[in-house]
Amino acid sequence: MRMCCRSVRVSTVLGHSRCLSLAPEPQHAAAMPGLLLGDEFPNFDANTTIGKIQFHEFLGDSWGILFSHPKDFTPVCTTELARAAKLSPEFEKRGVKMIALSVDSVEDHHGWSKDVMAYGGCTGPALPFPIIADDKRELSVKLGMLDPDEIDKDGLPLTARCVFVIGPDKRLKLSILYPATTGRNFDEILRVIDSLQLTAQKKVATPVDWKPGHEVMVIPTLSEAEAATLFPSGVRKADVPSGKNYLRFTKP
Ligand code: BEZ
Repeated sequence: MRMCCRSVRVSTVLGHSRCLSLAPEPQHAAAMPGLLLGDEFPNFDANTTIGKIQFHEFLGDSWGILFSHPKDFTPVCTTELARAAKLSPEFEKRGVKMIALSVDSVEDHHGWSKDVMAYGGCTGPALPFPIIADDKRELSVKLGMLDPDEIDKDGLPLTARCVFVIGPDKRLKLSILYPATTGRNFDEILRVIDSLQLTAQKKVATPVDWKPGHEVMVIPTLSEAEAATLFPSGVRKADVPSGKNYLRFTKP
């Protein structure tokens, strides 16, 4: 386990007492400690580039994706948000409301959005999704998004690259966490959303490297008879040395 730099590095370098209250315990960066898949995602009020929102109201009956980035006007974040902006019609097609977050102000977000849009070759100064201004880091602390290994020039921790996908029932369907130095792959995030939405509807699971249109797998809890009824197009079984019929593929 690495040392918690929020109590060591921050106070040693700057002697900044504000930081100590952000990190009461030594810990790893972890997305929402205590928030498990299937838990209701916390509702919260936030200041954003489209004004004040209440998160659950913002989501409505849609799926949602909340993704954090470490800091405005930073290179990797700029490439990520430009890609997210370019792919926003794909998220919309899937009924997924997008919202980003970083520990900067609304004013910074507006200024940076212009850079992101220009870099991405997108039209207009505004991103097609809001960015939460968590300049007090309250939400980042609540959701466990701060990365103790990434510190800004004032000695304060930055947000890691968290991704939360929330279902229409407001429950957490997926969380992934990347360090600041590794940009995410938004095509992969769309692929995962396709899997989440498919497997929420049908009794299937998606195998390695699955893409929409590929075969899927019949979930292990379905009996042969149930599988035959649910998948009239047929179930293909892969032979394995154990002789057990658990590798069952079908076309959804
Ligand atoms: C970036 O977005 O480029 C970045 C931000 C914080 C630390 C490292 C990279």
